[in-house]
Amino acid sequence: MAHVPSPNFADLDWWRHSVVYQIYPRSFHDGNGDGTGDLLGMSHALGYLASLGVDAVWVSPWYPSPLADGGYDVADYCDIDPRYGSLDDAALFVNEAHGLGLRVFIDLVPNHASSDHPLFQAALAAAPGSPEREMFLFRDGHGPGGNLPPTNWGAIFGGSAWERVIDVDGNPEQWYCHMFAPEQPDWNWENPAVADMFDAVIRFWFDRGIDGIRIDVADSMAKDQSFPDTPVDPKTGYGTTQKSAGAPYWDQPAVEKIHRRWRAIADSYAGDHLGQRIFVSEAHMNPAERLVSYVAPGRLHTTFNFDHLWCEWTGPSQRAMMETILRVHAEVGAPPTWVIGNHDTTRVVTRYGKPETGWRFRADGVHPDDGQKFAEHFAPLPTDVALGRRRARAAALLEFALPGVAYIYQGEELGLPEVEDLPTESLQDPTWERSGHTVRGRDGCRVPLPWSGEEPPYGFGPGIGQPWLPQPADWADLTIAAQTGVPGSHLELYRAALAERHRNPALGDGTLRWDEMGPTVLSFTREPGFRCIVNFGDDVVPIPDNSWPILASGDVSAGIPRDTAVWLSV
Ligand code: GLC
Repeated sequence: MAHVPSPNFADLDWWRHSVVYQIYPRSFHDGNGDGTGDLLGMSHALGYLASLGVDAVWVSPWYPSPLADGGYDVADYCDIDPRYGSLDDAALFVNEAHGLGLRVFIDLVPNHASSDHPLFQAALAAAPGSPEREMFLFRDGHGPGGNLPPTNWGAIFGGSAWERVIDVDGNPEQWYCHMFAPEQPDWNWENPAVADMFDAVIRFWFDRGIDGIRIDVADSMAKDQSFPDTPVDPKTGYGTTQKSAGAPYWDQPAVEKIHRRWRAIADSYAGDHLGQRIFVSEAHMNPAERLVSYVAPGRLHTTFNFDHLWCEWTGPSQRAMMETILRVHAEVGAPPTWVIGNHDTTRVVTRYGKPETGWRFRADGVHPDDGQKFAEHFAPLPTDVALGRRRARAAALLEFALPGVAYIYQGEELGLPEVEDLPTESLQDPTWERSGHTVRGRDGCRVPLPWSGEEPPYGFGPGIGQPWLPQPADWADLTIAAQTGVPGSHLELYRAALAERHRNPALGDGTLRWDEMGPTVLSFTREPGFRCIVNFGDDVVPIPDNSWPILASGDVSAGIPRDTAVWLSV
């Protein structure tokens, strides 16, 4: 595959200051009109992404998959799902992206496969104790007839983390472990053949010009080989999946070795025409010191700072969270990674429009809860969308002003709200079924993007075919076409902010200095000559002397009102 790297590929530190745009391929842009996004649609949209001003795109799993978990159930790690296109289409996409100066990240799912993966099918067909079964975590059950699961662990999507195998004669036999859905059997990372296989997968994609890899559930893979039970969660009756220290399936000591092995592979590419390849780890971990052990020298490059995503919209919590994150990253020399949305979380406009906007952070930056279930937590609360959108605009300026890497989840730049009223028959997140129809899950942030036009499918694909998840009837004003060139639109605010971030030497990687303006005003200065102020309080904050607004999330002509951010030249 030939590459046409553009000149900015000479920037070796690109990954320390990039703005990365997350594409959820099913829902981004549909090139062939079948209602599902695809690589053709993604290629058509590259001009849009370049004009938005992002530096890189991260594509959520594009592999062949039965989509039991939206593609995080991978049936072949070295191919493309035919619904999205082919390996050739992917090569074209990568080349075109590189031609526009955009880096491309993909998503690697090393904890589990799809139950359709040929190696899992082979394991099912083979006998207990066979090398085929050794690729996954098969165990005999407990109790008479082995009728009880090997441990009490609950799965993240509900129910037990163990599924029983039924042999060809209909007799129940061993159980296999799945920390997520039963269609997602966990690999056995104790088996060196598994590690070797993933080394080859990583090389396969780096050889094809992929610049970065997001590691799905980067704290999993290794399991405590004594397979102990965990304390029972009274809500589910199963062993807890909380990420407390010592949990037998999260952040086990063997995880570090796996990361270092991958890092060595990435480093072995550093000398080629694309330069350093990088990893971003997806791991929800507390406290922050533990999180940044993942980006210590020789380990992964960056790790999502989900404390940012979970943090409530108040001055003291935001500041406490940011101070902690900045401090712990500086200690290990890694750039922080900021994120306010992704395909797993209630969209920011909706979250910030709720009476509760997230977790409270104490002055030391620690939050008391260890919550994974964002959608569950927020769903029942009413939303003030206008308030949420105003705050989301301020949050974007705040995010892009912070030192480090910033992520944008597709549609965030349009100010899309969560779709909380999807008809239940359209829901596809495994959580819906596995929770006995009590938790709707994450589909509400995965509704296909509105591109143009007055009604669904809003130009998502050609023609009038409807997308795989229904779009709301009132999104005409939120389409890319409707917002393009409209001063003050959400999209134009993002464009202006990203353009300024490129232009302004104070922004991107580096440091900041907090200015003390009381608990309801967050303010920091970055050199040379930049200041960001966000007002969380009721009182209008005057623009300080000798500072001139560059960009604001709202009207600052009479001072900075509540829930508004301003960038100043000082
Ligand atoms: C990660 C993904 C999520 C997926 C899960 C299991 O958390 O972001 O979408 O369901 O891993 O792969």
